[in-house]
Amino acid sequence: MAAALAAISALSPAAGAYADSGVSTYHPSEEVRRSQREFSADRFGIFIHWGIYSMFGQGEWYLNYGPTAEEYAKAARGFYPADFNADEWAEAFKDAGAGYVCFTSRHHDGFSMWDTAQSDYNIVDATPFRRDILKELSEALQERDLALHLYYSHIDWTRPDYPSGRTGLTTGRDPKLRDWDSYYKFMNAQLTELLTGYGPVRAIWFDGWWDHDEDQTPFDWHLDEQYALVHSLQPGCMIANNHHQNVFPGEDIQIFERDLPGENTAGYSEQDISRLPLETCNTMNGMWGYKIKDQNYKSSETLIRYLVKAAGIGANLLLNIGPQPNGELPAAALERLRDMGVWLRANGETIYGTEAGPFAPQPWGVATRKDNRLFVHVMTAGNADILLPADLRVRDAVTFADRRKVRFSRLPGCVVLHLDSVPKSTDHIIELTLK
Ligand code: GLC
Repeated sequence: MAAALAAISALSPAAGAYADSGVSTYHPSEEVRRSQREFSADRFGIFIHWGIYSMFGQGEWYLNYGPTAEEYAKAARGFYPADFNADEWAEAFKDAGAGYVCFTSRHHDGFSMWDTAQSDYNIVDATPFRRDILKELSEALQERDLALHLYYSHIDWTRPDYPSGRTGLTTGRDPKLRDWDSYYKFMNAQLTELLTGYGPVRAIWFDGWWDHDEDQTPFDWHLDEQYALVHSLQPGCMIANNHHQNVFPGEDIQIFERDLPGENTAGYSEQDISRLPLETCNTMNGMWGYKIKDQNYKSSETLIRYLVKAAGIGANLLLNIGPQPNGELPAAALERLRDMGVWLRANGETIYGTEAGPFAPQPWGVATRKDNRLFVHVMTAGNADILLPADLRVRDAVTFADRRKVRFSRLPGCVVLHLDSVPKSTDHIIELTLK
């Protein structure tokens, strides 16, 4: 029992033990702080990886693995997502209980999913579909009060002016044509379009910094100026960067890839956990973009528990879907969205607008907190006694679902919840009222 108590009194990272790593030089505006609060309250967002790569059915990195950019680009003339319906997508996300959607405006292949004037390699000029997908999506989301976040790749495997790092080296570009000034201007002009033509954008989600993480001389991405541009165009727009490093000044949320903050099973998360609002992105199957062979979807129960665990450490879950080339969301993804919606309609009160619990994740689960209410999420069956820190001043304990009294007692080093038996469920929630 002593060991269990030692573990339980340790603070979760979300409750202390942060690294400051330079963020102190930057002070987010009042508008950003409002976005940060809204963002944290949402807890659950949907990530969409969609582009012409979906046609190859092998994920969004396909161009990196062989084809030349010139051959690859020919797919654009065949991209006609006949079944794309932004309202149906937005409806499914809303029903699932998500609060926001992060959409890949332009991924590493360099294809833009909006009507950009900066290049013809875009959904309107290069495909027979000729519809501005981002416009339709942004309007459908806005109608349903879902916030829009935009993924924007710093890498471009197609444009010769992008100074390549360690990826996309076989796409046939002439290295003599590298031109950072031209590429930087292009990106900033695109960001300006995104932030002036599509209504409120609550975050820009940059990705690709790591393309230059093996350079001999550190590569200068000129982020300060770019971040300032974003903040000047939309003062409430938060900046996230999937660089896997400690946060840089000017960033407003900290993101983790395929791991909850504090874990590092995928190898992308050696960075310190900052004081910023946190988000973990993860896939439903194994790939971000549509991958025809990957039907290895995590179960709804696993996904719900992942969301609960994220909430338990004060982080959001950005859950990915790779739409099919015809514009539909995969049936397996829709099924999971529906299940998550059912669960969140019943239990969302213990997730939305909560803070991390006052102790680190335990083998049995986590806690979330809202004012003087503590929600204890027990996710392993058969655990009869749950030990909580001694300093919790519990006044009352009931099951969240049906308000049945739960016995608790105070021992010298802990408070014990006596759960006579934990029913087999995704998450057995006990609500504590604290003094
Ligand atoms: C990685 C991948 C990219 C994906 C992203 C999502 O950075 O390069 O394909 O979009 O993770 O987190």
